[in-house]
Amino acid sequence: MQTMATAAIEHAMTLTPMSEHIGTRIEGVDLRHLDDGDFAAIRQAVFERGVVYVPGQQLTEEEHIAFARCWGGIDVNAYFPANGGYPEIAEVRKSENQKTNIGGGWHTDHSYDQVPAMGSILIARETPPAGGDTLFASMGAVFDSLSDGLKNTLRGLRAVHSADHIYKADGLYAQTDQGADLKGHDIRTLANHPVVIRHPKTGREILYVNPGFTLNFEGWTREESLPLLKHLYGVAEREEFHCRVQWQPGSVAIWDNRSTWHYAMNDYHGHRRLMHRITLSGEALE
Ligand code: SIN
Repeated sequence: MQTMATAAIEHAMTLTPMSEHIGTRIEGVDLRHLDDGDFAAIRQAVFERGVVYVPGQQLTEEEHIAFARCWGGIDVNAYFPANGGYPEIAEVRKSENQKTNIGGGWHTDHSYDQVPAMGSILIARETPPAGGDTLFASMGAVFDSLSDGLKNTLRGLRAVHSADHIYKADGLYAQTDQGADLKGHDIRTLANHPVVIRHPKTGREILYVNPGFTLNFEGWTREESLPLLKHLYGVAEREEFHCRVQWQPGSVAIWDNRSTWHYAMNDYHGHRRLMHRITLSGEALE
């Protein structure tokens, strides 16, 4: 017979690290019915570990939106196709016939906004039989690994970010078979952030440049910026700073854009993959 005590133990939420520096896998929880303590623990794990992965969930679109509202505001993505009746939900999709995927390179969502989105809640709706994983990188651990001299140099720099080269009418996606699905060709973005930010909740120093959207260091040309940017990207691409999310339909990842990069693997040609993403509003970075 199940006692109150064993029922409580069976439903206890467990948090397991996914790698040394980044990622927490959370089990024993239903994101539709969280108490305040469990929600606070999940939020803290996102801030401290960059990304949490919660398999085996069954959120409807309405429940996805309701869960996102618990975190604060929602930023409606200007580029991705919206999901039918739910403008808050952006679809990240690739069909059996498409070759290009969305997010198939290391990037930080929305660094091109002066007030970048805090993070995202991504739910897998349709997954390929194999592949289609998402990699995440800890940009706090990357910064920690640099020499004191380089850290000090970077602390004195700012960087310029934009998404125009990716999404505008003659940008990167327009040249691919994803071009017809994406919107916002006329939007222009330009933001300027410190290269080393302090995480707004934990105070940790984080390297805040990324290959997707960072153009140059402020006051430096692109040509002058590239050697140092490429050096930093090379450090961040080291596997020791990564974790990998392997999706099944229903699984959920929640990540913090301030402290992570991510990379959607494009290794499942001939199969559909459909993800529902809600982008969470953030704050200015210092
Ligand atoms: C994204 O870059 O937000 C997409 C991530 C994914 O599809 O795994």
